[in-house]
Amino acid sequence: MSTVDERTPEAEEPESPTNRPPGMHLATRWMERPYARRIILLTVIISAVIIALTFVMVAFMNLSGGPASDIQGEIEKTMYVLTFTSAPLMGFTLAILTYSWWGGWGKVKGPEEPTEEGPAIRTNGVAVVAWITVCSLLAAFLVIWGLVELATITASSYGSVPANQQPNAAKAIDINVTGQQWVWSFQYPDQGKITSSELVVPINVPLYFNVTSLDVVHSFWVVEAGVKIDANPGAITNTGFTPNKLGTFNIRCAELCGLHHAYMETNLRVVTQEQFDSWVREMGGAKTS
Ligand code: CUA
Repeated sequence: MSTVDERTPEAEEPESPTNRPPGMHLATRWMERPYARRIILLTVIISAVIIALTFVMVAFMNLSGGPASDIQGEIEKTMYVLTFTSAPLMGFTLAILTYSWWGGWGKVKGPEEPTEEGPAIRTNGVAVVAWITVCSLLAAFLVIWGLVELATITASSYGSVPANQQPNAAKAIDINVTGQQWVWSFQYPDQGKITSSELVVPINVPLYFNVTSLDVVHSFWVVEAGVKIDANPGAITNTGFTPNKLGTFNIRCAELCGLHHAYMETNLRVVTQEQFDSWVREMGGAKTS
């Protein structure tokens, strides 16, 4: 290939050799290369698998009956959006990895050292600009999506605004949640201060929780409602949600709190307003409405 390998400063700068066929830098002609078609095919397959796995994961999450609140609905929507947005990028990266793994670029032959320098690897301006632009736009979209969702979820969980200051027309039910090693208890101050080891609530009525702990730090997690907040000794934290599905769901402790942490769980029972009223009477409390 090369003639004389001596480089003199006076010599005219030669066109440096490249492994790129002439004219192939055009995006429209990338598809003519067999490897481009294979990598695109791999990208599509891997992205489809990633997206399918998300559906399977959410289906597993909902085996226990969720979502039981708008908050959990928003969380699942966010999982889908984040996956749809990032799956093609991850698929593309894994496609190149897989293609390289299979020796798609050609095998390195022989133990002996090459006698001459290989062709130069040049920056492809189009690819660099496209990659940076696409990634930046996707990242910006995810930041904006995340901020909007965070605001939506915070509004749905009442943030730190007391129940009696809510703009919502429906009056929220105040519930005092207490964690201790290793049980949860729920006190209903507006229903004659009844206390229960299960969280029983009427459907479609906002709930407002005042959460605390008697001993160590626990975390009050209403799984299918998508709500979780620390239960700290000597302090009250607030959260809330509106249950929108009848049924029995899981409440767990989400902070390592000692020997029986894994068993620090109870039920959320979402019932009709009539069932809730009779439950309150059974528990010896006052009628709610
Ligand atoms: Cu309480 Cu873990």
